[in-house]
Amino acid sequence: MSQLFTRKPIASLVADAEQASGLRRVLGAGDLIMLSIGAVIGAGIFSSIGTAAAGETLPSGEIVRYGAGPALVLSFVLLGVVCGLAALCYAELASMIPQAGSAYAYSYATLGELVAWIIGWDLILEYAVGNVAVAIAWSGYFNSVLTGFGIHLPGYLTHGYRTALLSSEPEIHALLQTAPRIAGVPILLNIPAFAIVMLITWLLYIGVKESVRANNIMVAVKLLVLVVFVGVGVTHIDTANFVPFAPNGWRGIHQGAAIVFFAYIGFDAISTAAEETKNPQRNMPVGILGGLAVCTLIYVIVGLVATGLVPYQELKAADPLAQALQIAGLGAAGWIVSLGAVVSLTAVLLVFQYGQPRIFFAMARDGLLPKWASKVHPKYRTPHVTTLVTGVLVALGALALDENEIYDLTNIGTLSAFAIVCIGVLVLRYTDPSRQRPFRVIALPVVAVAGALSCVYVMFGLPRHAWERFGIWLLVGLAIYVVYGFRNSKLRTEGR
Ligand code: ALA
Repeated sequence: MSQLFTRKPIASLVADAEQASGLRRVLGAGDLIMLSIGAVIGAGIFSSIGTAAAGETLPSGEIVRYGAGPALVLSFVLLGVVCGLAALCYAELASMIPQAGSAYAYSYATLGELVAWIIGWDLILEYAVGNVAVAIAWSGYFNSVLTGFGIHLPGYLTHGYRTALLSSEPEIHALLQTAPRIAGVPILLNIPAFAIVMLITWLLYIGVKESVRANNIMVAVKLLVLVVFVGVGVTHIDTANFVPFAPNGWRGIHQGAAIVFFAYIGFDAISTAAEETKNPQRNMPVGILGGLAVCTLIYVIVGLVATGLVPYQELKAADPLAQALQIAGLGAAGWIVSLGAVVSLTAVLLVFQYGQPRIFFAMARDGLLPKWASKVHPKYRTPHVTTLVTGVLVALGALALDENEIYDLTNIGTLSAFAIVCIGVLVLRYTDPSRQRPFRVIALPVVAVAGALSCVYVMFGLPRHAWERFGIWLLVGLAIYVVYGFRNSKLRTEGR
């Protein structure tokens, strides 16, 4: 039993990072903040904001969740506090354990192998599964850009099967009947979502520095586009749209927060780049906290403008921000925002497709996943095998699945990982008090406990299906650990 909780000494984590990996240390603090904005501002603000404000109802009339309405800004403030608490804990851990693998590596050192495995397994929901939703959102905005050029792709090639099945929009639901069939099965495939993931995978395969440069350009475009949205939108706000402010009361604010939490995921993603960061002890905390602060401010402003432009129910669309501008009679600005969303979501895809292989890489190096997953490409110095495996799986998911369902699953997995990290940093203060902490959280017991509890609170805003699927996900993960990881763990078999 106690073997399940074997902890990896921090010194050996740091040694792994310094000697064994072979990854290149090329990133500075500025790169990290850019990577963070690249990861954070994306499908959450451009797409899930619609469901968060308007709520969700199935074609059968069953209400899946209540919307926040204009009180969505309060959801953002709530999440800013929750993520701020978790971010502080992340920053302390990332600065003292600079290793690829993020929360996975931290929990290995603090809470032991079983918890580390569970976290690593949860992180797949955050990174790989989350990217399925981002790719689908990308496809939605990509289609609006094409429409602006007068190009209309057929609906059955731009919507996955699950989206058609669950959509309450009649023309999308009708695709189930109108799509071509092979052997009686309707062909409903999101081809643009599939294609963009494969393209990103190729970029990451050939090397990190090149990808980071591309990311920096995309982040600049993203910020510019949000400035356009706010600058143009703010002059067309109709204050009547703010009434009623909270149509579903606190329930709507809470359930809205639980889905739009997706917009905050990513500030932690840059901790997976610790092994490729120069002076991580200083640069990691600056990158994580700086990135989160900037993004929270932007969300509050964008949320205010979006719910002020149109009645909140109108935000229920695949491209809510563009839609809001269009309805307000600002079609050209709407098209520019669509174009900007395509660029922004590409940046998000890049960061998460970058992070996931590095987590697999760290787990394989510890023997919890097969050895081939820890191979580094001799020329490009990238974890090329896991990059490719992640790319293919995410692309296949994006082909067939539904965005909202994926948001739920990703959010529940990520929030639970955050909660465990909060506890982990507290445990480490007691089990390893003398270790150098380049970044120390003030009043840690309060911050860590409040962080963990508030993450769990947000999780309770998610629909029941998210909990059921999360339960199944954890059981599958445990089974894999019992069959493979437990027997092959290097820490227990070789003592390292
Ligand atoms: N926060 C990222 C997004 O909203 C995952 O797309």
